[in-house]
Amino acid sequence: MDGLVCIITGANSLSGIGRATAFAFAKKKARAIYVTDINGDHLVPLAEEITSTTGVECIPKCMDAAADKDIQNVIADALGTFGRLDVFFANAGVAGRHPMATETSEAFLNMMRVNAWSVYAAIKYASVAMEKTSTEKTKSGGSIIATASVVAGVRSGAGPMSYSASKAAVINICQSAAWRLHGKNIRVNAICRGLIKTEMTKKVLEAVSSNELLVNLMKRNSALERYGEPDEIASIVAYLASREASFITGQDIKVDGGLTAALPYCPLFADE
Ligand SMILES: NC(=O)c1ccc[n+]([C@@H]2O[C@H](COP(=O)([O-])OP(=O)(O)OC[C@H]3O[C@@H](n4cnc5c(N)ncnc54)[C@H](O)[C@@H]3O)[C@@H](O)[C@H]2O)c1
Repeated sequence: MDGLVCIITGANSLSGIGRATAFAFAKKKARAIYVTDINGDHLVPLAEEITSTTGVECIPKCMDAAADKDIQNVIADALGTFGRLDVFFANAGVAGRHPMATETSEAFLNMMRVNAWSVYAAIKYASVAMEKTSTEKTKSGGSIIATASVVAGVRSGAGPMSYSASKAAVINICQSAAWRLHGKNIRVNAICRGLIKTEMTKKVLEAVSSNELLVNLMKRNSALERYGEPDEIASIVAYLASREASFITGQDIKVDGGLTAALPYCPLFADE
């Protein structure tokens, strides 16, 4: 990722994928990384830690990942300061409880706004910036990665219906955008993750851990019989962001420990 200027949304959470990805980008020696989030309490220490431990310039910014003006501002900052934008990781997202019986159109649409519009808007504005050339960046190019989900998006069941719908939208937005941007050397991919231990899933995973039946059931969520760690997603995002992934676009890449490779696994049917 030598020379690449990157923006990450949803990087404030201490156990989140955004934060882990900032470290993964730094490890690959990106030129600069904007770490952004609507909550800013951990962003400054994160940026300081990255810069002091890796020497990579890291800039903290508080912003709403679904607000057009905020997205335009951080992109303008990257262009103004570094003259280029190469990578946008549209990762910010929300879940929460939305039972169907009490779901309102406002709550549903807000889920779509934060989880799906944030991705659409990132593509809309970042792609224009990624086309900009200079003596340092001689041709249009970039990589946009968005966080979708296998457990809610490819399939359903983890989280409310509005959450699944928003993540399914993310997958299709990425597929569509890869072609809308044809010929511009701008790649767009969705990462579809299985269950990963982060702030978002903490309460559910804690509740599960005290119930043996549920523990065994949840083990079936992965052929590896465990949950994923944020680092295991971050390294794939960094790969997709890097030049090594130069022929990958329009894909929904499943990082789920094998979850989607089989129907619910039954040893009897599997001839064991
Ligand atoms: N953890 C999982 O198992 C899992 C599975 C599939 C998909 N995801 C998705 O992964 C992404 C990252 O989630 P995580 O697991 O790291 O959770 P997390 O809660 O640890 O981090 C999400 C971050 O997004 C930020 N955020 C929320 N709304 C925002 C907004 N409007 N603008 C800017 N930032 C905002 C939060 O403040 C938080 O720091 C999300 O899009 C989530 O839906 C998570």
